[in-house]
Amino acid sequence: MNTKRFISMSVIILFCCGANLFAVKQNTTIKNKVPVDSIKTGNELYMKNCASCHKLIDPAKYTKVQWPDFVNKMQKRAKITDAQKALIISYLATEAKK
Ligand code: HEC
Repeated sequence: MNTKRFISMSVIILFCCGANLFAVKQNTTIKNKVPVDSIKTGNELYMKNCASCHKLIDPAKYTKVQWPDFVNKMQKRAKITDAQKALIISYLATEAKK
């Protein structure tokens, strides 16, 4: 395989996998006693509501103690309900920095 071909293939692979970077891993069961459905919904809400102004922030950037403060601050901006906020926090907490 020549270099040019290798580079274009790498770009394609990166492009395809990049979108799923923050998607919940398939085999996640129950983490931190939060049902997997809530985590999945929280993950979807996070991807839908938190990427319009800035790029999605890696959940591992902050601890689960820090995340609620950020999401509280962003709630008005993202126009999400308290219930949606709680789901987003439950997702972020499971993937947060340890
Ligand atoms: C309407 C635009 C908007 C939306 C929607 C939004 N943000 Fe933000 N966010 C900002 C701006 C502007 C800043 C930087 C200034 C500040 O901190 O006030 C920021 C900063 C942040 C930061 C801190 C900076 C960093 O890079 O670590 C976090 C964490 C964050 N946002 C999380 C979220 C989450 C979670 C959501 C979804 C609930 C969200 N944001 C939705 C505008 C937005």
